[in-house]
Amino acid sequence: MGFDNPNQHCKFEVPEIIFGRGLLNQVGSCAKRLGGKKVFLVSDEGLLRAGWVDRVMKSLQDAGLDFVLFDQVTSNPKDFEIEAGFNEYVAQGADVIVGLGGGSAMDAAKGIAILGSNGGRIQDYRGIDQIHRPLPPLVLCPTTCGTGSDVSQFAVINDSTEKCKLTIMSRCVAPDISLTDPDTLETLPDEFLGSSAIDALSHAVEAYFSVAASTLTDVNAAQALTLLAKSFSRAVKERRADDLEDLSRASLHAGMAFSNALLGISHALAHPIGGLYDANHGHVNAVLLPEVLRYDFPVVERKLAGFAAALGHNPVGIETKYVEEMALETVDQLLDAGNAPRGLRNLGVREEDLSSLAAKALDDVCLLTSPRQTDQEDLLGILKRSY
Ligand SMILES: [Fe+2]
Repeated sequence: MGFDNPNQHCKFEVPEIIFGRGLLNQVGSCAKRLGGKKVFLVSDEGLLRAGWVDRVMKSLQDAGLDFVLFDQVTSNPKDFEIEAGFNEYVAQGADVIVGLGGGSAMDAAKGIAILGSNGGRIQDYRGIDQIHRPLPPLVLCPTTCGTGSDVSQFAVINDSTEKCKLTIMSRCVAPDISLTDPDTLETLPDEFLGSSAIDALSHAVEAYFSVAASTLTDVNAAQALTLLAKSFSRAVKERRADDLEDLSRASLHAGMAFSNALLGISHALAHPIGGLYDANHGHVNAVLLPEVLRYDFPVVERKLAGFAAALGHNPVGIETKYVEEMALETVDQLLDAGNAPRGLRNLGVREEDLSSLAAKALDDVCLLTSPRQTDQEDLLGILKRSY
């Protein structure tokens, strides 16, 4: 793998994908099709208030399925929430899991599914391919526009004791069905619409430059970038249905790209920061992404023109340094469109923690596919420049 050998050997895995406005009422038929009799529905209080949980419960009822709701999930889902959900799943005798929400609810659904068929503690499954038994049938329905958890082979859970994020990667954790209804973005508060779309932007950028990128992931990453450049700013300002649908679609494409190409330094650093401070994941990526791009640019020249073109530029005949500037300017504009904070200090990150955060990032699986080989000193430099 790598830029000198644009890989002709690649695997590209995605779940069954259902995408379209108004399709949330198909959750019941999806769960039934997977052989479920009793559904364990994982969501959160915000979605309950917004009415989307009721919509799904009606769909389950219409399909003749029994169900139980578990809504005790918070942002950056915690290990103890996963354990509580697993105990409830077992006590209720459920046999299919539906996750409805942002990355937190969907990753919690994945965590409960992992324990549901493998037992133990969620910490046991940290890293790559540590899950040995297939998960129960799983349907994931994103209601934000960035996480990509609905198609990805990742689950990220907070270890509340160690105050760090556990990144779990396995083919097993991709769901059976990913069902996106872009209408759910209508009730997403502005802050989360912006921050989740920025997460999608980070996924697309990092997947595009990943050493595990392939033509299959590139086309998805580029499509995500193009949709974000076209519609992000207007979607936040005007909230028109067509633009919101573009954001949902961008998230889906970015999710398919990063699930297969994996990520890079921005996410490797964002995970320990999110674990230590319980910070908004999209905002952490927003702060880091420009400096990570500057750090990566010297080794990704071969793909720079394609990157700039996906963002809406015509880089033909333009000197590399100016193409870099054009691309960075557009990324900056997109970060502004999402009202992203600037500077790690504005996310509550303490300067004295930067060294230990750089050290923790060295263990993150996302670093394996960074286009530029790095070390603790360079990671610390990126953190300092992003501070
Ligand atoms: Fe992310």
